[in-house]
Amino acid sequence: MCGIIGIVGVNDAAPRLVEGLRRLEYRGYDSAGVATLVNGHIDRRRAEGKLLNLDARLREQPLAGTVGIGHTRWATHGGPTENNAHPHATKRVAVVHNGIIENYQELKDELIEAGCVFESATDTEVIAHLVTLNMDRGMAPAEAAHAAFQRFTGAFALVLVFAGEHDLLIGARHGTPLAVGFGDGEMYLASDAFALAPLTNRICYLEDGDWAEVTRAGAVIHDAGGAVVDRPVKTTAVSGALIGKDGYRHYMLKEIYEQPQVIGDTVNSYINPETSRITMPDLPFDLARASRLTIVACGTAFYAGLVAKYWFETLARLPVEIDIASEFRYREAPMPENGVALFISQSGETLDTLEALRYCKRQGQRILSVVNAPESTIARESDAVLYTMAGPEIGVASTKAFTTQLTTLACLAAQVAHARGAIDDERLMSVARSLREVPARAAEVLAHDERLKDLAAEVSEARDVLYLGRGAMYPLAMEGALKLKEISYIHAEGYAAGELKHGPIALIDDAVPVIVLVPSDNLFEKVVSNVQEVCARSGKVLLIADRKGIDRLSDRVRWSVELPACDPIVAPILYAIPVQLLAYHTAVLKGTDVDQPRNLAKSVTVE
Ligand code: AGP
Repeated sequence: MCGIIGIVGVNDAAPRLVEGLRRLEYRGYDSAGVATLVNGHIDRRRAEGKLLNLDARLREQPLAGTVGIGHTRWATHGGPTENNAHPHATKRVAVVHNGIIENYQELKDELIEAGCVFESATDTEVIAHLVTLNMDRGMAPAEAAHAAFQRFTGAFALVLVFAGEHDLLIGARHGTPLAVGFGDGEMYLASDAFALAPLTNRICYLEDGDWAEVTRAGAVIHDAGGAVVDRPVKTTAVSGALIGKDGYRHYMLKEIYEQPQVIGDTVNSYINPETSRITMPDLPFDLARASRLTIVACGTAFYAGLVAKYWFETLARLPVEIDIASEFRYREAPMPENGVALFISQSGETLDTLEALRYCKRQGQRILSVVNAPESTIARESDAVLYTMAGPEIGVASTKAFTTQLTTLACLAAQVAHARGAIDDERLMSVARSLREVPARAAEVLAHDERLKDLAAEVSEARDVLYLGRGAMYPLAMEGALKLKEISYIHAEGYAAGELKHGPIALIDDAVPVIVLVPSDNLFEKVVSNVQEVCARSGKVLLIADRKGIDRLSDRVRWSVELPACDPIVAPILYAIPVQLLAYHTAVLKGTDVDQPRNLAKSVTVE
């Protein structure tokens, strides 16, 4: 996901633009750049790779000017080169853009026909040329920009500066967030509150279709039809402090180790520490009376939803349908009367999840979301939001967001189960007690870090790795495989253990590590049988189990890691930690960029 920022200020813009881009690094990027107005002309500095390269370029060739724009690019159209880095510019207009102009080729052909000369392979460059052409045809900057915006299809958030216009930024939002920041005699535009935090905590978010003329005196915001509108200005609580690694080698390891704390924070926000009673916030609809719950998410958040499906169905006897957002949003699923749709998202900006939310809203579903990023688009478009208390998650591979999503969903499922009469007071209290013990159990699991580091040496040599689990451990198997894939680049698959004999068992030989997640739950014996099937075929099994599982299988398996015995309902939260650590240490051995793995972005705001 790209990051954008613009300043119309009273001091040099370049250093503050770069500071803002530092707060957008977590989104993942592969090049960066800034542009300012210098004596009325547009001047740019761009660099491939990380911000330190842009810093070096600016030290070599400083940029003056108090009006400017900046960008961190996650390449979609055109490779991650300096030439494709934003800002893109003509002599009259410079632009930074997050999203995809889907009809860019048609526009590019038209613009080339009109004599425009392109220098990059990006979709973004058409914005600069089209606005310039409109101005060459006599339109003023705002009119030229608005006319161009109406030609674009696709998702975009963008900021423009204009040669000779020392008191103007123009920003637009269509499907991808953009915030307006209010300073003292200065104004700003940026992708999110984090980027603006060093500059101001007074912000408003543009709504879809909005565009804004921003000057030092303030912002005039227009809706899609051009009418001037008011958007509420709020004081954001987002901190301006750069989040450091606090001595950890990577953000991901820091965030793995933060889990006892943030799971505890999440538990305490939904379970009264004095009474141990689950006290979810009141919802503007009765989830316990819903005809069906539809869960939609992407990636790791989807696996959290899959675990929650097991909980809502087994505990609350509530029918659940679940799908990944990129499929759900296009299959025109018929939605039930009196249905609730639940969206899970760490960033709250994943475009597929957001568009699925909008589909469900159009279909009359009540919208509930579980989100980590405050003030995010998914949160703002939901009827009700349950926040995870994970704090900012910088590592692209999601860890503490996942376990706090599970914690939140477990609390919700238990409360809904009780409201539906599916569980009694005693079972509700036992679930709450088990959840309150998770932070301490999680700290115990982290004590296996060295063991998992040793085992990573075995896994790091593999070409393929298989993860197996049953029931709520099946999504954990898929999550473990995703963690390994996305940061170590080793192919891995998470499989339902019961499916092994229907094909994947053909993969088993002594070159394929098989990671098996098996708590002492109602499916324990079934998984034991599956482990024996694997071992009988020279499979190398890494068993992640409690004492009962270790006693049963330690003589059959190659390696084992013992987890504390626990109520099966909280096992998915605890069993996430060893697979996170195994993936982390494997990636470190492989020498990959653990916090910003190749090709990945922290939040995918393109389709
Ligand atoms: C997880 O490690 C990945 N980074 C990715 O699958 C992520 O979970 C997915 O893109 C969903 O992101 P979200 O939770 O911000 O919506």
